[in-house]
Amino acid sequence: MRRPLVAGNWKMNGDTESTISLVKGITDGRAEVTNAEVLICPPYILIPRAADALNGRDDISLGAQDLDINQNGAFTGQISASMLVDAGCKYVIVGHSERRAIYGESDQDVADKFKVAQQGGLTPVLCVGETLEERESGETEAVVARQIQAVIDVVGINQLDDAVIAYEPVWAIGTGKTATPEMAQEVHRFIRAMLAALNGDIAEKLRILYGGSMNAGNAESLIRMTDIDGGLIGGASLQAESFLAICMAAN
Ligand code: PGA
Repeated sequence: MRRPLVAGNWKMNGDTESTISLVKGITDGRAEVTNAEVLICPPYILIPRAADALNGRDDISLGAQDLDINQNGAFTGQISASMLVDAGCKYVIVGHSERRAIYGESDQDVADKFKVAQQGGLTPVLCVGETLEERESGETEAVVARQIQAVIDVVGINQLDDAVIAYEPVWAIGTGKTATPEMAQEVHRFIRAMLAALNGDIAEKLRILYGGSMNAGNAESLIRMTDIDGGLIGGASLQAESFLAICMAAN
């Protein structure tokens, strides 16, 4: 049985005050979420604020939204895996579609980040997903397969044992348009089958999250699908109430 995971991707939102109140809101309601794992991914600079606000609680995990492929040195503006671990992170998102589209990250860059994340002791949350154009031209499976294969080519299938995949159709992110549960399930099943062809145990164990306008109203119908093991939540993770409602739906 895969333990559901609900991850909040705060993106570039928040400040000290909102971090403290959001973490407080989530910790206050956390006890009711008895089964699902809860993860929050604040902007880099707010990670220590969130860690302080968690005050030693380990029932809410911390993650980052990106990392650099280098360990340390002359890389102005960058943050490494060891810095994230030092700040209390367990997870790191790699290959979010905003990083791919806005910052030009290639499949190869994402694979390299996946590798250094694991080498540094972090569990990568690998984001994959097609654009609207790709979906409309019937390329969804090919795109998702290419994005995952790039990682497997670099690290090998066995490394997927300590990872999470998030299927996030680009056209559903921040748009209010969600994939129907059936559409999402179809891609999740495809991903699991692709991995099962390489290693059945890993495919069975791997958590595949759905992301893209998931909210308190639609979470349950999505997470109920066989191959959807939780969510990567953007907008709805910025309010404790909606984030906790999704955690409950996954519970
Ligand atoms: P959204 O973002 O929930 O605001 O659509 C999801 C994501 O980008 O991870």
